[in-house]
Amino acid sequence: MALKIIIVGAGLIGPRHAQSVLSNPSTTLQALIDPAASGATAASNLKTNYFPSLAALLQSDLPKPDAAIVCTPNHTHVPITKELLEADIHVLVEKPISSTIESGKSLLEYTQRPDKSHLKLLVGHHRRFNGYVQKTKQILDSGSLGRIIAVNGLWTLFKPESYFSCGGEWRRSRESGGGVIPINLVHDIDILHYFFGPITQIHAEGILPQRENPSHDAEEGAALTLRFASGVVGTFLVCDATPSPHNFEAGTGENPLIPKVSEGSDFYRIFGSNASLSVPDMTRWSYDGCAQKSWSEELKVEKIGVQEVTPFDLQLGHFVDVINKGERVSCSGEDGLRALVVCQAVRRALETGETVELGVDLLG
Ligand SMILES: NC(=O)c1ccc[n+]([C@@H]2O[C@H](COP(=O)([O-])OP(=O)(O)OC[C@H]3O[C@@H](n4cnc5c(N)ncnc54)[C@H](O)[C@@H]3O)[C@@H](O)[C@H]2O)c1
Ligand SMILES: *[C@@H]1O[C@H](CO)[C@@H](O)[C@H](O)[C@H]1NC(C)=O
Ligand SMILES: *[C@@H]1O[C@H](CO)[C@@H](O)[C@H](O)[C@H]1NC(C)=O
Repeated sequence: MALKIIIVGAGLIGPRHAQSVLSNPSTTLQALIDPAASGATAASNLKTNYFPSLAALLQSDLPKPDAAIVCTPNHTHVPITKELLEADIHVLVEKPISSTIESGKSLLEYTQRPDKSHLKLLVGHHRRFNGYVQKTKQILDSGSLGRIIAVNGLWTLFKPESYFSCGGEWRRSRESGGGVIPINLVHDIDILHYFFGPITQIHAEGILPQRENPSHDAEEGAALTLRFASGVVGTFLVCDATPSPHNFEAGTGENPLIPKVSEGSDFYRIFGSNASLSVPDMTRWSYDGCAQKSWSEELKVEKIGVQEVTPFDLQLGHFVDVINKGERVSCSGEDGLRALVVCQAVRRALETGETVELGVDLLG
């Protein structure tokens, strides 16, 4: 039996998720829910039912949905997710899991209640389902690099003045959610967590402000030193004020608004005891097949192929397997919250100049 799925929030990204639901043979699109009248139009375009609220759907004579995808504004993610779980509905919630760490914690506590433990919660950090990310994760898990020692990452790119005006003024101010940390770095942090586990120590050096007129008080970049609970260490450079190909979007082409560069765009270099790997050119360097593992040998260079995939479709496929087959959830509520906690710690490290330590247990 196909899973009956509803989409809550039919703005920009909701209808995109609906397409994935329609194209997956294991799911059916049961309804769109959105209090705005535009939701009804979106529902009729997708030939599905429309309700202004979850309560209205639950009172209708439609069968209860099995699962929901929450695509509403950030500050509504926690209350809507709780309402759905309360109604015994599995949830895929768009990132970020919450708009504050406190509300994120309250949701985690809610999901840990014994009467809710059968319900699944997946957070929509869909870059985990990007083809390059999936291939890198496979390579790491296969042990092909040996023990992982260190990672070096980059997110560097130039945002024009227009990005910060004409409705984008909020991006200049940290108070209103602007800054390269919550907007961009958060995605890399989640991928680093996916690859290497939790980050537990952070030091940060801010870049000099580049945009002074009109004034920007949100950070524009930093050099970070990271330590992971696993013992892996890392450095990461983030900056949105430099023309550069070294960032996830230009390297993978995942954002249609940012042109993909054909080469020289590596944004992660991962160093293991037996080999190193750069991403997304997927070049593996080792002494495999050499007389000895030694710097005096000529390094062997391999290029690893990556298949084109549609992350939203893979993410939904994973959600289905989590519900139907008990597959372990790729990005849990805890993972979603951890990305926010680390971003907040990066800010604190920048402001205080001190090294910030984080526990692995977020609720402790
Ligand atoms: N993973 C991604 O690549 C990605 C991309 C874009 C957006 N997002 C996330 O998805 C979320 C939505 O983003 P968007 O760009 O689609 O926003 P949007 O503003 O275009 O759409 C949000 C919709 O939610 C509706 N809504 C508001 N309150 C509601 C409620 N209580 N119940 C039901 N519907 C409600 C609004 O009427 C609106 O139609 C955000 O959290 C964003 O961070 C993720
Ligand atoms: C590194 O490679 C050698 C030789 O192939 C192998 O014996 C060893 O187990 C590998 N080390 C790790 C940590 O995988
Ligand atoms: C909240 O959502 C918007 C998209 O609507 C996103 O661009 C923004 O970065 C998010 N805010 C935070 C604090 O994560």
